Amino acid sequence: YKNIYILAIESSCDDTSAAVLCNNTKLSNVVAAQKIHEEYGGVVPELASRAHQQNIVPVVHQALAKANIDKKQLSAIAFTRGPGLMGSLLVGTSFAKSMALGLDVPLIEVNHMQAHILAHFIKDENNLPPSFPFLAMTISGGHTQIVVVRDYFDMEILGETLDDAVGEAFDKSAKILGLPYPGGPLVDKYAQLGNPKAFSFPKPKVGGLNFSFSGLKTSILYFVQKMTKDDPNFVSEHLNDLCASIQYTIINILMDKLKKATKQTGIKDIAIGGGVSANSGIRKALKDGEKKYGWTTHIPKFEYCTDNAAMIGIVGYLKYKQGIFTDQGVTAKARYVI
Ligand code: KG4
Ligand code: ZN
Repeated sequence: YKNIYILAIESSCDDTSAAVLCNNTKLSNVVAAQKIHEEYGGVVPELASRAHQQNIVPVVHQALAKANIDKKQLSAIAFTRGPGLMGSLLVGTSFAKSMALGLDVPLIEVNHMQAHILAHFIKDENNLPPSFPFLAMTISGGHTQIVVVRDYFDMEILGETLDDAVGEAFDKSAKILGLPYPGGPLVDKYAQLGNPKAFSFPKPKVGGLNFSFSGLKTSILYFVQKMTKDDPNFVSEHLNDLCASIQYTIINILMDKLKKATKQTGIKDIAIGGGVSANSGIRKALKDGEKKYGWTTHIPKFEYCTDNAAMIGIVGYLKYKQGIFTDQGVTAKARYVI
């Protein structure tokens, strides 16, 4: 067999990333995170597009250099077509199309959400990939979904958020507590020092396997406003307990739906992905589920959880093997359901 070399491009949100894979093995995975958004407390789409424009060429050069291959060896170019911010997607899409045209190699379009799930199939000595069918829970700053995965390209969304993503719930709660953006990792850090039952926040009443997090944010805001009226130092005095209680509520919401999904489908193989999979409480809750409910859980390396091009590359490889290519007429797609 001839080796397949894929160059993959990811630019759907605020990370510019390029990766090179040889078959299912990652050779390089370069990510340029955009610092510029921190001072705005969230991603500013216009600034993200401009930063992608500046980053994309150096990031691709670095990915090729780290992989120690010449661009003439590439078998195909894979890129994120959507979903994501239109201006951001346009940069990666246009770049990938031009490069494929220039090298005269096939072009492969990739759905970002499928890529978060198929990231589990990047070769990793320490983790075995899940076997079909399995449940995937994708949790990040932009997404919250439970998906049943029957095959590489046979997926069905069982439930998703009706408003904020779970990462937004972490980040917005953190903002209410006066923590800098993105606050998710800080909530996790302080939560480990606090009592998860110190305060209780209501769980949303959403049917089926869908999620809602906007009510939680509002109840935290009202609670903090009420408490700081009597005690201006309330937040700083109770930061650990507040973080622990917020995190506990969010984890309960996720685990309830996951339990429901395993009951509904009879599938106990669970794979998670997205930046929020880094959360120590969520990881622990999943491991507890192995003992309590007989689950098998898969958590990819953190590098493959957050937005990155290696996950786009593995989809590129899987599609290449099946001969699934796209033509130069392809356009970016801000809303793109798996
Ligand atoms: O996947 P990602 O890097 O980008 C998106 O596609 O959104 O996810 C970023 C999100 C942010 O909301 C961030 O606060 C959250 O993941 N996050 C965490 C943790 N690490 C990252 N949330 C809770 N606990 C963490 N340890
Ligand atoms: Zn993502």
